[in-house]
Amino acid sequence: MPQVVLKEGVNWVGVVDWNIRDFHGYVTSRGTTYNAYLIRDEKIALVDTVKCAFADELVQNVEELMSLEKIDYIIVNHVEMDHSGSLPHIAKLAKNAKIIASERGKDALIEHFGHDFDRVETVKTGDELKLGKRTLRFIETPMLHWPDSMFTYMVEDKILFSNDAFGEHFASSERFDDEVDQQRLWEEAATYYANILMLFAPLITRKIQEVVQMGIPIDIIAPDHGVIWRKDPSKIIKAYLQWSADNAQQRAIIVFDTMWGSTDAMARAIEAGIASQGVEVRVFKLRNRENTDIVAEILDAKAVVMGSPTMNNQMFPTVGGFLTYITGLKPKGKVWGFFGSFGWGGGAVKGMVEMAKKAGFDVYEPTVEVKYVPDEEDLKKCFNFGVQIAHKIKA
Ligand code: FEO
Repeated sequence: MPQVVLKEGVNWVGVVDWNIRDFHGYVTSRGTTYNAYLIRDEKIALVDTVKCAFADELVQNVEELMSLEKIDYIIVNHVEMDHSGSLPHIAKLAKNAKIIASERGKDALIEHFGHDFDRVETVKTGDELKLGKRTLRFIETPMLHWPDSMFTYMVEDKILFSNDAFGEHFASSERFDDEVDQQRLWEEAATYYANILMLFAPLITRKIQEVVQMGIPIDIIAPDHGVIWRKDPSKIIKAYLQWSADNAQQRAIIVFDTMWGSTDAMARAIEAGIASQGVEVRVFKLRNRENTDIVAEILDAKAVVMGSPTMNNQMFPTVGGFLTYITGLKPKGKVWGFFGSFGWGGGAVKGMVEMAKKAGFDVYEPTVEVKYVPDEEDLKKCFNFGVQIAHKIKA
């Protein structure tokens, strides 16, 4: 493998997973990478490992540079299995290495892999580890995005090993931000933020401000997924601050499913009503588009309008699945509208509204419901509903 050098003595030794399409439900249409980094100084440190299935590839990448037995430290920034799945295997080969994690990282390692991991040494924010000319400083980042998560900062070279933060699920043969197609990169960075980190938006703002206040200069951000940010790392930090702030665009997203076309017709009439007020609107039928992509569209929209037919007195299963996902992610600062159709007894719209209110969403009422097939009068009501949603967006 050609060497990928971040700075002298600091190599990327991770792997590219071109073929993954389902990352615990997140549809990774462009694959992903599991990044790991080898720092060679008087002491040798491996920062993070990779998913279990790629253990041999990580071993090979390290051994092209040096024997695993020479590793002095394995830094575990995060225990989720895409970064620690190969750790038990690597730890056996790197038999002289001390394993370093946060306090909660140690607990999680024991819970994942058993009491072999009692020997893990713990660090907290501000602790430092001297490797020789270089120093590693640790910064705990709990719930960014697991309790155990932490960053490792390399002081002299100004490299922030940020684990999941600032990543993308984006497989590529290039390793650096300035080498890849920019549109693809930023699409994937936003999709990753929306699907993995949106729930933690307030925490992200606080943690980034805390890191900025520490006054640590950053030349390179080296995350554990996707590309390494070396051209202008402040750009992805600014993007995170923007995504986590409540500054949505004047845009509405309509998300719906349909059985015999009634909810589809309602969606089109609502779309026309929103657009008639000069507000941009994008429409997604759930069975035609992945939840992962729709969540990314919602990230910077001001309003979300959801429609469902009633099936067995409840909302349509795809709508229920999506609503479960999006209420868990808790996007902030949006207006939510609901509409739907039914045959003899309703249930879908009531169910959606209840779920949304329980999640603390700002629900616009009244809702719109149609029996069987919308007539001209019903479609007018839908159009006017769209107009009202547009007014809420512009208010
Ligand atoms: Fe990439 Fe939270 O694991």
